Amino acid sequence: MSNPFPRLFSPFKLGNVALRNRYVMVPMTTRYTDDNGGVTDKLVAFYARRAEGGVGLIVFEASYVERRGKHSAINTAGIHEDALIPGYRRLTEAVHAHGTPIFMQLGHAGSRANSSVTGIKPIGPSHIDLRHEEVPQELSTEGVRELIEAFAQAARRAEEAGFDGVELHGAHGYCLAEFLSPAYNKRKDIYGGDSMGRTRIVREIIERIHALAGKDFPVIVRLHAQESYKGGLKLEDSIENARNIQRAGPAAIHLSAPRGPRGLPEAGMERGRWATLAEAFKKALNVPVITVGAITHPSMAENILKHGQADLVAIGRPLLCDPDLPRKAASGSLEDFRECILCNMCHHTRPQVNCIINFECGREYVAEYHITRAIKPKKVMVVGGGPGGLEAARVATLRGHNVTLYEQSQELGGSLRLATSAPHMQHMKEGVDYLVREVKRLKVPVVTGTRVTTRLVKNEKPDVVIVATGSKLGRLRVPSQGAGPRVVSPEDVIAKRVQVGDCVVVVGSSTAAATVAEVLALQGKGVSFVVGAEGLGKDMHLYFKEALIDRLRDEAVIMYEPAELARIVGRDVVVRKLVPVKGLKFAVQEQTIKDVDTIVLGEGAKPNAALAARIKGLAPEVYVIGDAAKVADAMDAIHHGSRVARSLGVEGRIFPQLWWERIKNLP
Ligand SMILES: Cc1cc2nc3c(=O)[nH]c(=O)nc-3n(C[C@H](O)[C@H](O)[C@H](O)COP(=O)(O)O)c2cc1C
Repeated sequence: MSNPFPRLFSPFKLGNVALRNRYVMVPMTTRYTDDNGGVTDKLVAFYARRAEGGVGLIVFEASYVERRGKHSAINTAGIHEDALIPGYRRLTEAVHAHGTPIFMQLGHAGSRANSSVTGIKPIGPSHIDLRHEEVPQELSTEGVRELIEAFAQAARRAEEAGFDGVELHGAHGYCLAEFLSPAYNKRKDIYGGDSMGRTRIVREIIERIHALAGKDFPVIVRLHAQESYKGGLKLEDSIENARNIQRAGPAAIHLSAPRGPRGLPEAGMERGRWATLAEAFKKALNVPVITVGAITHPSMAENILKHGQADLVAIGRPLLCDPDLPRKAASGSLEDFRECILCNMCHHTRPQVNCIINFECGREYVAEYHITRAIKPKKVMVVGGGPGGLEAARVATLRGHNVTLYEQSQELGGSLRLATSAPHMQHMKEGVDYLVREVKRLKVPVVTGTRVTTRLVKNEKPDVVIVATGSKLGRLRVPSQGAGPRVVSPEDVIAKRVQVGDCVVVVGSSTAAATVAEVLALQGKGVSFVVGAEGLGKDMHLYFKEALIDRLRDEAVIMYEPAELARIVGRDVVVRKLVPVKGLKFAVQEQTIKDVDTIVLGEGAKPNAALAARIKGLAPEVYVIGDAAKVADAMDAIHHGSRVARSLGVEGRIFPQLWWERIKNLP
């Protein structure tokens, strides 16, 4: 059978570097580096695994070219000193071993750097800060020349470390992007003014790199296709910039187009949305164009190439989720392909990059976590078909254990499936669907509509029981008089297990609470949303949160934040709210919400571990996972399920009961 993606798997030459296919791995800051921006085992294994998966080219994550350019307190990659070269050589060798070329992205945070991290005042093209961060020091003309030299020296180090080329990070509001953008660059010298002036720094960096590393050392330039903030680059301005940069001979132009000046597309963004922007550049330029942005499926990449919108297709999050995506697409067999759900949990919920449905992401270097056949297959009962239970069943089956999955309702997916009924959670549905599909594909026996009892466990005589029974409603700890409103959980509401009246108070600050507030408001109920002092959405990505707050406002949800319930008198709910008064002081104010029918308690849920206590001693091994162990998010539940299933039958490998105590020390 011929490959369904012929263009995607046709070779390409980027300068003198031969690519075996058109897939490029985008730079993604993993935070797997050490304190000085250097290489770790974790970093090497992560990139080697993506190379092994068959991607045509890897662009290594943004690496700061000098100390002033480090952008975050948490580890970011750096190439600011020669001492880093041997470490990076180890990384490039591990990638080259799979026949994959690798470029390094050279970055400088510019005004997005933070003096409390670097100990030095941030620099920028002009004395301007549009993000309300630190106002940078404007570089002198001589200072710009020094910066150009810092980029060139960094490229020289990258070449010595074995990188096949470099990419200049001219996007996402960092230093070079600020030079390119009229919103930030107000300079009066040769590095400011019109497009020729603003792009001069990039041209001179390319020329200096070519002088140091040789004319045939390829330099890609990453640019914003457009900037969506006031005074930023419009599409035609950015094309003009690219034309002017083209004069210096870049190997390719790599386009990005995030919503704000930061680098990330929003969760659940429309797939492949930026390809039309890339197309406009392709028509205007004579150098190869790379497009990016939620291109989750190879058929989308093939289409982009077919319509001539770009020469190369870059993917980021899809490779966190499934490093074998290129290999699977090349073989034409996508049967067990894990398609990225664009939830953005990869980068905003944990200190280092992680993937909700690929537990191995960032743990490739831990041999014990690889899925290996169990030496002695065990009979395993997984109780609970939520995300944690599904993942435990999937992995234990792949390892050759004899697994049966029990779910007391009729449907698999647990609270995550319920959450997906809110409009803003649609993308999560695909994550649940993937787990359910895999369990079916692996022919795991699934028993739905059955409550697991001690008798059932005694009859089945399993070697292992994995208890994934989720959480239960917590207690509303508020003084109350009389028969008050009915108190229900978000899950009860979304699963339509309870009737909800017309006047509802939702309490909590989590995604689950916000989801239920939105769903009820869309049903036309009067919703008051009481958000605690920790603020709405501590478990949410910033973009996601901004959009959600806008929608709640549009749906006329009345927000009380920061606030708490004070007391309930009959059906009146009294809310205690902090309101700002003069200066930075706050006063406590009470407000009464009259005639409340229902309170949805979106906080204080408790582990539902009753079964675990009852079956203690009935099976040689009993593990409690996910919310049944400690209420957390879906990623924790899935990863916990994965970790336990990977440890089955391996003496002393992991002690899941101690998971929460140990998790911080585990990779
Ligand atoms: C975890 C993470 C880290 C990122 N770090 C960088 C970076 O270092 N440099 C950069 O230019 N873009 C960075 N980006 C943006 C990506 O390169 C890419 O433009 C974006 O993720 C869209 O591609 P995707 O939809 O295929 O993920 C990052 C994205 C993610 C998800």
